[in-house]
Amino acid sequence: MAHDLFPVPDSWAKAAWIDNATYLRMYEQSISDPEGFWGEQAGCLDWFRPWTKVREGAFEGDVRISWFCGGKLNVSYNCLDRHLAGRGDAIALIWEGDDPAESRSFSYRRLFEEVCRFANVLKSLGLRRGDRVTIYLPMIPELAVAMLACTRIGVVHSIVFGGFSADSLAERIRDCQGRVLITADEGLRGGQRIPAKENADKAVEKCPVVERVIVVRHTGGDVPWTPGRDLSWSELMENASADCPPEVMDAEDPLFILYTSGSTGKPKGVLHTTGGYLVFSALTHRHIFDYHDGDIYWCTADIGWVTGHSYIIYGPLANGATTVMFEGVPHYPDWSRFWNIVDKHGISILYTAPTAIRALMRQGDEPVRKTSRRSLRLLGTVGEPINPEAWLWYYNVVGEKRCPIVDTWWQTETGGILLSPLPGAMALKPGSALRPYFGVKPAIVDAAGNFLEGPGDGNLVITEPWPAMLRTIYGDHSRFLQTYFSLYKGAYFTGDGARRDEDGDYWITGRVDDVINVSGHRLGTAEVESALVAHPAVAEAAVVGFPHEIKGQGIYAYVTLKADRSPAEPLREELLRWVRKEIGAIAVPDVLQWAPGLPKTRSGKIMRRILRKIAANSLDDLGDTSTLAEPAVVEELIRNRPAAA
Ligand code: WT7
Repeated sequence: MAHDLFPVPDSWAKAAWIDNATYLRMYEQSISDPEGFWGEQAGCLDWFRPWTKVREGAFEGDVRISWFCGGKLNVSYNCLDRHLAGRGDAIALIWEGDDPAESRSFSYRRLFEEVCRFANVLKSLGLRRGDRVTIYLPMIPELAVAMLACTRIGVVHSIVFGGFSADSLAERIRDCQGRVLITADEGLRGGQRIPAKENADKAVEKCPVVERVIVVRHTGGDVPWTPGRDLSWSELMENASADCPPEVMDAEDPLFILYTSGSTGKPKGVLHTTGGYLVFSALTHRHIFDYHDGDIYWCTADIGWVTGHSYIIYGPLANGATTVMFEGVPHYPDWSRFWNIVDKHGISILYTAPTAIRALMRQGDEPVRKTSRRSLRLLGTVGEPINPEAWLWYYNVVGEKRCPIVDTWWQTETGGILLSPLPGAMALKPGSALRPYFGVKPAIVDAAGNFLEGPGDGNLVITEPWPAMLRTIYGDHSRFLQTYFSLYKGAYFTGDGARRDEDGDYWITGRVDDVINVSGHRLGTAEVESALVAHPAVAEAAVVGFPHEIKGQGIYAYVTLKADRSPAEPLREELLRWVRKEIGAIAVPDVLQWAPGLPKTRSGKIMRRILRKIAANSLDDLGDTSTLAEPAVVEELIRNRPAAA
């Protein structure tokens, strides 16, 4: 197959951390001698005590993996304290508010002081290492302070994306038993107020485990207050000392829990630990984004997702970088916002999602062209496959053919980027994540279960442990084994399909399980289905993804009502509101089709393959329908397919 190839410019090959020869040499070493390689690389952090063994455990038995065994360190120390002597006055964090008139900068020293103060606040509430704290904050600087303060005293944070509903928040608090919740009065997105405290209150009603709610005053909006339980962030901070020695943590002590969707059941609490995670997020950030002193780096993700954890906070700050945090949205106050931010702060590295690129592209070139963007030198994407058209627009229009694009493939579970171009080392192919990062051993398994040697298509697996991999599902190690290590012997199953081409480059083709990717947000179809069937009018529901021009995938729901209910527009709207309340706005179906019945096999299994075809409107190749119990159901669904879909 012929691809457009974008060779490495000479200037990049010369100035980047990693050129082609270095990549080949380091990759080879990382695979043939992982302990030697990672032992050396871990020197990028400051350790209170060195490890005794680099790596322990394998993808067999109960998969207990450890990295840097016996090593002691502290994450906030590595992200803050150690930079104070050399670059205490350098900017660590630039915050850009939803309102373009609002931005604030924090030097390393200032951030350090705030973090120490808040760590003392947490201590004063009785929190100790190993305890869990839930953070439900909008994209404001206090979010960065809260996370780093947790790491300073060994408290495990669980950040819940501000777009999740009260019910989703409650479910996550209950799962990890977080005694303290940190929230704000309101968030702001595109000029709209997001009722954070109101949601938090509803969640806490269902979570007796929560003793205290710390509330940041952000908009100043009028919010209810529960005396005795609710505490004001600013009052607590006023009285707190800025002296807080970092807790000495073990490399394998838990760092954070982050909930993510799987193909079945409730969200999984992905658990990441301290040493391996920080080494890997720091190094990937430095190498893949080619971060050098003087760069201004902006990742547009929300910290409620793993991208924000690893590539807004931990990786960049461990590297002493200047990292930008943006509260708002790409289209407010207008569609030039991203590029105005680039010009305002002199951003040199921009990392965003294909869904944002497609939405921006749809507005034409004008909102981009009227800005300078001269400061940009590297672009990145993450979250979903990028279509070549969007890639080329990003490259030609945004980057003016000057900026390489790193298409980074990874997952909540992987903790950091596993597949990506290295911009000084590899010719780019629009739509390909190209090559494995150091120490990452991918493989492709075909439908017959063969691990392919050469080019081919199949399921993507990783055959060796890497430092930032999840260690378990919080409180459910058997689900961890079942989800990732039961399908193939000796390999981590990613849930993604991929193709390896003749050059050995990887192309991610998308999820092969019942997970859908809506605007780069990961959702389990089962979650949306259980939200729908929880409504009293619904008898049965089936949810699938379908191709969506902007979102990548949209949500298509087939709903069967109980016998005494009949389809009507108000009920449709009620069901959409219901899903918003149960999960959050990101889970609201784009299409809801009334289904008198669902296509099932004679043994009663819903034939999702057929539902996916109908949703995608690819009706010519429904595939084998001979096992259908009632073929008429399919004809009916095709006939009544909503026109808008
Ligand atoms: C799923 C993981 C970790 C980043 C944010 C998403 C898809 C992610 C790419 C990419 C194609 C991608 C995969 C993966 N994905 N990056 N560059 N190309 N697909 O994290 O919510 O855990 O979702 O996102 O399907 O499995 P997540």
